[in-house]
Order: sequence, then structure tokens, then C-alpha cells
Amino acid sequence: MKAIIIKKYGAPEVLKLQEYPTPEISGDEVLIEVKAAGLNRSDVFQREGNYPSPAGVISEIPGLEVAGTIVKCGPAVVDFTIGDRVCALLAGGGYAEYVSVRQGQCLPIPSGLNFAEAASLPETVFTVWSNVFQRGNLQRGETLLLHGGNSGIGITGIQIAHALGSKVIVTVGSDEKGQKCLELGADSYINYKTQNFETQLQDEGVDVILDMIGGDYLAKNINILKPEGRLVHINAVSGSRVDLDIWKVMTKRLTVTGSTLRSREYEFKKQLAKEIQKNVWPLIESKKFRPVIYKKFPFSEAAEAHRLLEDGSHTGKVILVR
Ligand SMILES: NC(=O)c1ccc[n+]([C@@H]2O[C@H](COP(=O)([O-])OP(=O)(O)OC[C@H]3O[C@@H](n4cnc5c(N)ncnc54)[C@H](OP(=O)(O)O)[C@@H]3O)[C@@H](O)[C@H]2O)c1
Repeated sequence: MKAIIIKKYGAPEVLKLQEYPTPEISGDEVLIEVKAAGLNRSDVFQREGNYPSPAGVISEIPGLEVAGTIVKCGPAVVDFTIGDRVCALLAGGGYAEYVSVRQGQCLPIPSGLNFAEAASLPETVFTVWSNVFQRGNLQRGETLLLHGGNSGIGITGIQIAHALGSKVIVTVGSDEKGQKCLELGADSYINYKTQNFETQLQDEGVDVILDMIGGDYLAKNINILKPEGRLVHINAVSGSRVDLDIWKVMTKRLTVTGSTLRSREYEFKKQLAKEIQKNVWPLIESKKFRPVIYKKFPFSEAAEAHRLLEDGSHTGKVILVR
């Protein structure tokens, strides 16, 4: 098969389209003929050599999410059959003509979506559901602060939280990006380049924060959380070693938590997929949540697609299509 290989760690041009052995399947794995693969910031970290693949996961081929058609089923597959249109959460290997994955990490493509739209969903929907709704326990009527409202994670978080009845505030790097977040259902935005989100939100307070920044955001996040508030980390791009005022955590009875999805065990992802099919897929089918595609590239232009992702001017997902 053809696949995009990380030849060596470095700039986008290290991504090369090459021949690679088609994956074998066994047990409850399916083989998906990939029609579209979603790009994520983590792919850039992996390409640079800063996000090693978990043990046993293909490390030369990036790609955490795909959509396509099942062309082979292992002997223990019971949930899907050859010809099914699915999207899947992967730990790697998505930038390829074929990928193998266990059945529990696949979901049927919601009705009305094409392959590119479906491929844009798994990584952000799984991350948002497990961190905002499971770990953060966001409830209807509560306020969610999403840092990076304009990110792939942000545009998914805004739409699901809004559809389920929460107030959503986002931080963004420009008013233009803020405007796009409002169009997706955010109630308000704070431009982190010109405004201080801590000052803006000090009086109002928030119930749940999804943070990928870390560093000096920690103290500010702690200060604006309401009593019983929850702070959930999914990255720490500004630094993971921080000062924490434990008294504030105690007196406001805060929960400070976080998680990484890629390295989680299969049973967790399988359970999460079931919850998503029950809670999020109906929002897509009733058009309360729609995939936002910024640009599609052919697989052969993966390096160009990474350049766009790194440039950061986009709102919405970047997708490789065949
Ligand atoms: N733990 C997990 O399981 C998990 C899973 C998936 C993703 N993630 C992490 O989630 C993050 C988002 O991923 P993605 O693929 O959605 O990324 P992305 O689309 O590339 O977005 C990155 C975002 O970071 C924002 N940002 C940068 N500096 C900021 C600051 N000081 N304050 C507020 N926002 C700031 C950017 O905002 P502007 O463009 O507006 O400047 C941009 O929206 C990444 O760090 C990724 O590693 C973690």
C-alpha cells in the first residue's frame, strides 16, 4: 500500500509518500480502506520527534483518526461487516491506504456525513467527551471555559457543550477567530493576546476549564474556578512544572485533573466509543453539531497540510483525502 512515512524527525518535508506493507489483521481487528484521515496538532509533535508512539503502535506512519470502508474482518469481529462505512480512533498509522484497528474503536459514520467530515471527528470527540464530560463532569447550566477555542478540540468542545445546555467561553488569538467561535455556539470569547482572561472572568467565575496551555495559566485558572470547580489538562504547551496554591484547591474544593487519550487501554476507548455513539452521534444527526472542515489535501501533499496546520491561521480541521 501507499503511506505517508516520517523518514526522520524534522520539518514538514520529512513526510514522504512511499510503499509500505499492508497491515495484517487478526482477532477482533478490521482492515479499513482509508478514504480520509484527520490531522491533529499531535501529528506535528510526532513528526518533530516530541510525541513517541505508545509501545506496539506503528511509529513511522502518523494519523490518529480516519474514515473509510471495512474491507476485511478478523474472525472475532461481530459489530461490523465488510462494506461498512466507519470512522475510527487510532493510536497511529492513519496516513495510509489501509489501517487495522480493533472493532471497539470504530463507529458507524453518522448519516449525512461524507468521509472527510467523518474523519475529522474521532480524536477531538473522544478527547472532549472523556475530559469535559467524564473527568470534568460538565452539567447543563454550568459554564465551561475552553482555552484554544479555535483549535480542533475547541470547535468540537464549543458545539457539544452548547448543544447540551452549557454556557461556553473561549480564549482565542484574534477577534476573527473569536467571531468564528461565536458562530459555532460560544457565548463569548476573550482574545488572549489583548485581554487577560483572569481579570475578565474573576467576578463571574467558571465551573469547568479545559486547558492545553499549562504554565502561568494554572494559577489564573485556579483563581477563576467557582467552588467545586474542575480543571482538566490535556497538554501543557507553556510548561508542565508549575506552582500550585494548595490552599485555594482546598478552600474552593477544586478538582485538578487531566489525561492523555492515545496511550489509554483498548477497553477504555471501546467504552468511550459507546458513550459517544449514544450521546454525541444524535447531536450530529440532528444537526446541532457539525464537522468544520477548513481544507482538504491529497495524501501526496501531507507536508503542505502540516505547514498549514503549523501556520495556525485556520479554524476547522485539515483533512487528507484519497
Ligand atoms: N491529552 C489528550 O488526550 C489530547 C488529545 C487531543 C489533543 N490534545 C492537545 O490539545 C491541544 C489542541 O489540539 P488541536 O489538534 O485541536 O490543536 P490546534 O488545532 O493546532 O490548536 C492549538 C490551539 O492552541 C491555541 N493557543 C496557543 N497558545 C494559546 C494561549 N496562550 N492561550 C489560549 N490558546 C492558545 C491556539 O489558539 P489561536 O490559534 O487562537 O492562537 C490554537 O487554537 C494540543 O495541545 C494537543 O496536543 C490532547
